[in-house]
Amino acid sequence: MTQHSASPVHPFRLLLGAGPSNVHPRVLQAMTAPLLGHLDPHFLSVMDETRGLLRHVFQTENAVTLPISGTGTAGMEASMVNILEPGDACVVAVNGYFGQRLSEIAERSGANVVQVPHETGKPADPDRVRDAVVKAGNVKAVGVVHAETSTGAGTPLKDIADVAHEAGALLVVDAVTSLGGVELRVDEWGVDVCYSCTQKCVGAPPGLAPLTLSPRAMDALQSRKSKVQSFYLDLTELSSYWDRRAYHHTAPISMIFALREALRLIAEEGLEARWERHERNASAFRAGLTAMGLDVVADAEARLPSLTAILSPDGVDEAQARRHLLDRHGIEVSGGLGPLAGKAWRVGLMGHNSTRANVLTSLGALEDALGEQGYETQAGAGVAAAQRAYLGAD
Ligand SMILES: Cc1ncc(COP(=O)(O)O)c(C=O)c1O
Repeated sequence: MTQHSASPVHPFRLLLGAGPSNVHPRVLQAMTAPLLGHLDPHFLSVMDETRGLLRHVFQTENAVTLPISGTGTAGMEASMVNILEPGDACVVAVNGYFGQRLSEIAERSGANVVQVPHETGKPADPDRVRDAVVKAGNVKAVGVVHAETSTGAGTPLKDIADVAHEAGALLVVDAVTSLGGVELRVDEWGVDVCYSCTQKCVGAPPGLAPLTLSPRAMDALQSRKSKVQSFYLDLTELSSYWDRRAYHHTAPISMIFALREALRLIAEEGLEARWERHERNASAFRAGLTAMGLDVVADAEARLPSLTAILSPDGVDEAQARRHLLDRHGIEVSGGLGPLAGKAWRVGLMGHNSTRANVLTSLGALEDALGEQGYETQAGAGVAAAQRAYLGAD
């Protein structure tokens, strides 16, 4: 018999990758509260508060706003499988790994999918999406990733929403790496379906996928000809649990406690102050990278406040540098995805982790990791440039 002897004590890591991120102690504490039944009157009041707070973070009045049980991918599946029926036309802007995944999920939902490919690091282009929508004709949904985690590029949503609505289509938005850290206004910008995750800028562990549906999206759902293929992710069934408390599946009680606490923290900080904090820290971080001679993947005007993809310089082994950060500094950063695998690092400054301390710590550690492989920078240049950026911004 094989003996497994993993240490019972987990190491502490500073999670500066693409997620999960470290969370506020209040969120972890909320998860240790005694369990309640999923139809307990007290739990029902927790659900009501959570939904109200979710509407705030999504900036929406949508009645159907709830956390799906599952990670961000469950949000992707729930969106597509509810909106699309076999044979529907769907246009997806693909400007990275997650746009590709969204397209794949739309296809598995039975839709005829038209992809609009983009170069790595670019935001989705509304004109190119419009051309595809017009050419495809009778499009049911347009899918786009607000914050493409594989490249660190953000896409402005308003123009893409206009493109979808001109054609009578619904706009489906992946806000996995934006919700709670990057400006997002679901109602004002005309987003019809928006999903996210809990483990990034929202500031809770992985396990839920907040999702919101506009009244137009609800109409589309209610006028379906066929049943939603997934029982678990059927939003009509799920809303009846969240509205009328009819059993559908057992809610992940402790995760909902955690999400409520994370959302309370967001409300206490103020959504706009939080967006601004993410922007300020990312911009100081990027100033540090530039001073160290490092290049960022995303186009200058599209860089996200939540995640930065950095090209690893010639002669540097990116996996070795990540290992150095983990072993010597206890810092996790992510490697590249798709065409950037082996060529880039992805650094997240998300939620509780978007701090000045983490910016300065990570730049210093990166300098050490690069120096170990003989990559020369002027000592302390990254940290000094970030400090100057803060002084300019403060
Ligand atoms: C933009 C984007 N969409 C979807 C996902 C999938 O989320 P999850 O890994 O939580 O299932 C991710 C994960 O990083 C993501 O970054």
